[in-house]
Amino acid sequence: MQSYSLIAPAKINLYLEIIGDRPDGFHELVMIMQSVSLADRIDLQPSDTENIKIYCDHPQVPTDKTNLAYRAAQLMCDTFSQMYANYGGVSIRIEKNIPVAAGLAGGSGNAAAVLVGINLLWKLGLTQPELQDLAAELGSDIPFCVSGGTAIATGRGEQLDDLPPLKNMWVVLAKYDNLSVSTPWAYKTYRQQYSDTYVSDTAGVKSRTAKVSSGSLVKAISHHEHSEIGKLIHNDLEKIVLPAYPQVAELKAAFAAQDVLGTMMSGSGPTVFALCASEAQAIAVQQAVRTQIADPQLQFWVTKLNTQGIQIKA
Ligand code: C5P
Repeated sequence: MQSYSLIAPAKINLYLEIIGDRPDGFHELVMIMQSVSLADRIDLQPSDTENIKIYCDHPQVPTDKTNLAYRAAQLMCDTFSQMYANYGGVSIRIEKNIPVAAGLAGGSGNAAAVLVGINLLWKLGLTQPELQDLAAELGSDIPFCVSGGTAIATGRGEQLDDLPPLKNMWVVLAKYDNLSVSTPWAYKTYRQQYSDTYVSDTAGVKSRTAKVSSGSLVKAISHHEHSEIGKLIHNDLEKIVLPAYPQVAELKAAFAAQDVLGTMMSGSGPTVFALCASEAQAIAVQQAVRTQIADPQLQFWVTKLNTQGIQIKA
């Protein structure tokens, strides 16, 4: 049986607004998600045992059932038990390039790649929407990781509407190696502090979502107005994470002082990104911030906006 290598890109949030609570305990969100070129590589091979086996050389990535990629494989085995019985287990090798616990959907992308890969390995013929329905069972941003590009995400984050793909923008990502933020903590603390602003009725949720869909950031994206995009990016979770993690606030301020189109924390952080007009500008910004914050724990990546989700490597 054939093996597959897949490329699983990271994502950043160009916009993240928390609208209210949902009956399932999650939050009603409206987000603009964007893939970037920084990516993990996932190699999938049929196994001669019935086991799901994960290999990863990154010390912070678990290789047991707590790994989302493992859970993705388990979901495929449970859902397509006949195919699992026919084909046996899978061996999954993860080459980690995306920083972990960073707000960049690294783990979610790995899970998305496993769904796409097993679909190919077992010749299931599932369509992208069918894969995304399975992805939504595993995590709110995994459906986006399957299709990638530029999209508005609503509901828990799993309902997607594609936007015109953004290109030709560069991104500097920066993260302290020794810093991670718990996503459940960030949302829980947001609820504690801001639940009085929550919208609870369906009409209210729809109108907040529609305001973003027809708003200035989406227009700027559609017209490729890069400097407008930089000014309009937004993330509600910054209100929680920046005060609790002064290093992240300081990092954002250091980017803001440079010649960048815009700077923002991605997801629940702690990665901060800066949008730049060219690769040369991105490299210059990275060097300037590295000089300003001389902490060896601070890691940087220069990457580009990407128009695709999971890709199969030839
Ligand atoms: O869906 P995912 O596993 O990525 O979510 C991680 C955590 O983030 C959830 O357990 C929840 O605490 C929070 N979350 C939320 N509302 C969402 C998405 C995530 O409250 N729409």
